[in-house]
Amino acid sequence: MTAPLLIATPGNEQQAAGLAAALGFDLGHLETRQFPDGETYLRFLTSPEGRSTALFCTLDHPNDKLLPLIFAAATARELKAAKIGLISPYLAYMRQDRRFKPGEAVTSRQVARLLSEAFDWLVTVDPHLHRYGALGEIYTIPTRVVHAAPLISQWIKSNVTSPLIIGPDSESEQWVSAVANDAGAPYCVLEKVRHGDRNVEIKLKDLDSWSGRTPVLVDDIISSGRTMLEAVKLMAARGWPQPICIAVHGLFADDSDTLLLQAGARIVTSNSVPHRSNALDTGSILATAVRQLAGSDP
Ligand code: R5P
Repeated sequence: MTAPLLIATPGNEQQAAGLAAALGFDLGHLETRQFPDGETYLRFLTSPEGRSTALFCTLDHPNDKLLPLIFAAATARELKAAKIGLISPYLAYMRQDRRFKPGEAVTSRQVARLLSEAFDWLVTVDPHLHRYGALGEIYTIPTRVVHAAPLISQWIKSNVTSPLIIGPDSESEQWVSAVANDAGAPYCVLEKVRHGDRNVEIKLKDLDSWSGRTPVLVDDIISSGRTMLEAVKLMAARGWPQPICIAVHGLFADDSDTLLLQAGARIVTSNSVPHRSNALDTGSILATAVRQLAGSDP
């Protein structure tokens, strides 16, 4: 029986190698580069013919990555791969989940359609499910969602004495409550109003009954960083110790990692997007889900 093939798109080589080793999959290789005019050149250096094939591509900076990814999946199909899966620890475009203003694109549905047409299955880590209850509402292929909450709570238990887990907005409650329960710590959720991409307002609640604890802000995504930054500044203004900011996916647009560090925060993220703050390894939680969907070749 031939082992399934796991192939990294550029930038994902290290994690894909670890995952392939953990799963006993063969690591395949893809050659890809840009032509001088910006078009994509792509070539499978390992033949996927007749083999269950998984592409590993996390989707931060999605506009640069989506088209080459679709080309890779289509080429694997032309080369007669048995089954083509996508391992995308960070699944982009999930926050555009409603037409907030007339005429807006609901890009979560459009990206879901593109990926569902290109792939046979998908594994991801904590997609931003807010107005959708499950990926199956927009993806038409089998999907598995794995959760980073146990990794976060384990990290907190090992590194923070007497934490107070804080969610910056109501959307974060799903992660915050799971993390707090598992870490045996109290939690609260703040109120956030977003006025624009880089303009958020956060209202701090009365946290005095938890004074003396270390504030640990937990959210799914740090993008512009404004959500975390506002919360960090408010905590500092109220005299709380410097907080720890934990996110599943650290995108860090606008140099927000630097801004958070300058504001006195410590940053911890999962390796769903490679960054120096990565302290939570998603490899083991991905492996179980990938094994279920990629299976073995007949
Ligand atoms: C919001 O719905 C998410 O859970 C995050 O709070 C948000 O994506 C963070 O964005 P930013 O870092 O741009 O404030």
